[in-house]
Amino acid sequence: MSTTVPSYEDDVKPLFNQRDRGSMLSQFDLWSYDDVSSNADAILQAVSRGTMPCYGQWPAEQVDLLRRWVEGGKPV
Ligand code: HEM
Repeated sequence: MSTTVPSYEDDVKPLFNQRDRGSMLSQFDLWSYDDVSSNADAILQAVSRGTMPCYGQWPAEQVDLLRRWVEGGKPV
Protein backbone atom coordinates (compact mmCIF):
# COMPACT_ATOMS: atom_id res chain seq x y z
CA MET A 1 0.00 0.00 0.00
CA SER A 2 1.26 3.44 -0.88
CA THR A 3 2.50 5.65 1.94
CA THR A 4 2.20 8.80 -0.15
CA VAL A 5 -0.44 11.26 1.03
CA PRO A 6 -2.96 11.95 -1.75
CA SER A 7 -3.53 15.54 -2.88
CA TYR A 8 -6.87 17.27 -3.41
CA GLU A 9 -6.27 18.37 -6.99
CA ASP A 10 -4.78 15.14 -8.33
CA ASP A 11 -6.54 12.49 -6.28
CA VAL A 12 -9.56 13.65 -4.26
CA LYS A 13 -11.32 16.10 -6.58
CA PRO A 14 -11.60 13.50 -9.42
CA LEU A 15 -13.60 11.25 -7.05
CA PHE A 16 -16.53 13.69 -7.25
CA ASN A 17 -18.45 13.65 -10.53
CA GLN A 18 -20.70 16.33 -12.01
CA ARG A 19 -23.81 14.74 -10.50
CA ASP A 20 -22.23 14.67 -7.03
CA ARG A 21 -21.21 18.29 -7.30
CA GLY A 22 -24.57 19.48 -8.57
CA SER A 23 -26.51 17.53 -5.94
CA MET A 24 -24.54 18.99 -3.04
CA LEU A 25 -23.95 22.52 -4.33
CA SER A 26 -26.57 24.03 -2.00
CA GLN A 27 -24.43 22.92 0.98
CA PHE A 28 -20.86 22.89 -0.34
CA ASP A 29 -18.92 22.70 -3.59
CA LEU A 30 -17.22 19.32 -3.97
CA TRP A 31 -14.95 20.83 -6.64
CA SER A 32 -13.66 23.47 -4.22
CA TYR A 33 -10.63 22.72 -2.07
CA ASP A 34 -11.79 25.14 0.64
CA ASP A 35 -15.29 23.65 0.84
CA VAL A 36 -14.19 20.01 0.85
CA SER A 37 -11.44 20.80 3.32
CA SER A 38 -13.75 22.52 5.80
CA ASN A 39 -16.46 19.83 5.46
CA ALA A 40 -14.03 16.92 5.32
CA ASP A 41 -15.21 15.18 8.50
CA ALA A 42 -18.87 15.11 7.41
CA ILE A 43 -17.91 14.06 3.86
CA LEU A 44 -15.67 11.24 5.09
CA GLN A 45 -18.36 10.07 7.48
CA ALA A 46 -21.01 10.04 4.73
CA VAL A 47 -18.93 8.01 2.25
CA SER A 48 -17.66 5.68 5.00
CA ARG A 49 -21.18 4.87 6.13
CA GLY A 50 -22.30 4.61 2.52
CA THR A 51 -25.10 7.15 2.92
CA MET A 52 -23.49 9.26 0.15
CA PRO A 53 -23.53 9.43 -2.80
CA CYS A 54 -27.29 8.82 -3.05
CA TYR A 55 -27.01 6.40 -6.01
CA GLY A 56 -24.58 3.91 -4.47
CA GLN A 57 -21.75 3.30 -2.06
CA TRP A 58 -18.15 4.12 -2.93
CA PRO A 59 -15.66 1.25 -3.34
CA ALA A 60 -13.43 0.80 -0.27
CA GLU A 61 -10.36 2.06 -2.18
CA GLN A 62 -11.99 5.46 -2.72
CA VAL A 63 -13.00 5.74 0.93
CA ASP A 64 -9.43 4.79 1.96
CA LEU A 65 -7.98 7.42 -0.36
CA LEU A 66 -10.19 10.14 1.12
CA ARG A 67 -9.33 8.99 4.65
CA ARG A 68 -5.60 9.10 3.91
CA TRP A 69 -6.00 12.62 2.52
CA VAL A 70 -7.79 13.80 5.69
CA GLU A 71 -5.37 12.06 8.04
CA GLY A 72 -2.42 13.30 5.99
CA GLY A 73 -3.31 16.94 6.61
CA LYS A 74 -5.47 17.64 3.53
CA PRO A 75 -2.79 18.84 1.09
CA VAL A 76 -3.95 20.93 -1.89
C1 HEM B 1 -19.54 11.64 -3.20
C2 HEM B 1 -20.54 12.50 -3.38
C3 HEM B 1 -21.31 13.10 -2.22
C4 HEM B 1 -20.85 13.46 -0.98
C5 HEM B 1 -19.43 13.39 -0.45
C6 HEM B 1 -22.00 13.94 -0.23
C7 HEM B 1 -21.95 14.39 1.08
C8 HEM B 1 -23.02 14.78 1.83
C9 HEM B 1 -22.97 15.22 3.19
C10 HEM B 1 -21.69 15.34 4.02
C11 HEM B 1 -24.22 15.52 3.57
C12 HEM B 1 -24.68 16.02 4.93
C13 HEM B 1 -24.59 14.95 5.96
C14 HEM B 1 -25.38 13.73 5.63
O1 HEM B 1 -26.63 13.82 5.57
O2 HEM B 1 -24.78 12.65 5.47
C15 HEM B 1 -25.09 15.24 2.45
C16 HEM B 1 -26.46 15.42 2.45
C17 HEM B 1 -27.28 15.17 1.37
N1 HEM B 1 -26.90 14.69 0.13
FE1 HEM B 1 -25.03 14.28 -0.45
N2 HEM B 1 -23.11 13.86 -1.02
C18 HEM B 1 -22.73 13.35 -2.24
C19 HEM B 1 -23.55 13.10 -3.33
C20 HEM B 1 -24.90 13.24 -3.34
C21 HEM B 1 -25.76 12.86 -4.44
C22 HEM B 1 -25.29 12.28 -5.77
C23 HEM B 1 -27.02 13.09 -4.05
C24 HEM B 1 -28.23 12.76 -4.90
C25 HEM B 1 -29.28 13.55 -5.03
C26 HEM B 1 -26.98 13.65 -2.71
C27 HEM B 1 -28.07 14.06 -1.94
C28 HEM B 1 -28.02 14.54 -0.65
C29 HEM B 1 -29.18 14.96 0.12
C30 HEM B 1 -30.62 14.94 -0.38
C31 HEM B 1 -28.72 15.36 1.38
C32 HEM B 1 -29.53 15.86 2.54
C33 HEM B 1 -29.80 14.71 3.45
C34 HEM B 1 -30.52 15.18 4.67
O3 HEM B 1 -30.00 16.10 5.30
O4 HEM B 1 -31.57 14.60 4.97
N3 HEM B 1 -25.68 13.72 -2.31
N4 HEM B 1 -24.34 14.79 1.40
